[in-house]
Amino acid sequence: MNTGLRPYRSGDLSRLREICVRTGAAGSDATGRWSSDDLLPDLFLEPYVTASPDWAWVVDEGEGPVGYLVAVPSTRRFVRWWREKWTPWFADRYPEPNEPFSAEEELVHRGRHPEVLEIPELDEYPAHLHIDLLPGFQGRGYGRALIENMLIPALQGAGVPGVHLTMDPANRPARAFYEAVGFVELPSSTPDGPALGRWIPPRR
Ligand SMILES: CC(C)(COP(=O)(O)OP(=O)(O)OC[C@H]1O[C@@H](n2cnc3c(N)ncnc32)[C@H](O)[C@@H]1OP(=O)(O)O)[C@@H](O)C(=O)NCCC(=O)NCCS
Repeated sequence: MNTGLRPYRSGDLSRLREICVRTGAAGSDATGRWSSDDLLPDLFLEPYVTASPDWAWVVDEGEGPVGYLVAVPSTRRFVRWWREKWTPWFADRYPEPNEPFSAEEELVHRGRHPEVLEIPELDEYPAHLHIDLLPGFQGRGYGRALIENMLIPALQGAGVPGVHLTMDPANRPARAFYEAVGFVELPSSTPDGPALGRWIPPRR
């Protein structure tokens, strides 16, 4: 099913930022949760579509985006890009917190120190992704379609052997989704919650 799916366009950015917030509390609405509603999209959405706009796809039934999948094909390259291009921008907006960090300060810290994304034991799964759909558009096959029809062919085309993600363990529906679409838990010591990965067979 490709109906309703299309590549990301730069004009989608503000809608995608909203979706990121409305799904950003373990899958539920995170509006008002942090001092600024910009924090989550400044970490989990905009850097992705800025660094890798060709690796982003949206669900759009004709009224604008209602969901997205954003990915980077090489996490290590993305971290280098982030350090050079995104950290200076981010650091201008979010001052360095002092330890011990609150939950919000942990998020700010990662924006200034993207190395947290480099997880050596996941090197065989170089890509990583974020996927979010507004509630009214969940459970209709769009998540699977974004993975199977957009992401996987792009990874195969680029010869990327695997994709991973880390997730909030409280988000049990998302865990069930990832397992349904072929992700398995990988041994990892990341503090970012369980790491799941899917190996990508080479294109024949
Ligand atoms: C998680 C999410 C991306 C899944 O996308 P979706 O469009 O709702 O999922 P689909 O309808 O494509 O479902 C695909 C498969 O996952 C399974 N699945 C999806 N949600 C499930 C749930 N809550 N419980 C059990 N299985 C589930 C479906 O049964 C389906 O299996 P099938 O294709 O074998 O029938 C979407 O629900 C979402 O955006 N949730 C809120 C944000 C979020 O949690 N993002 C992930 C953060 S880590």
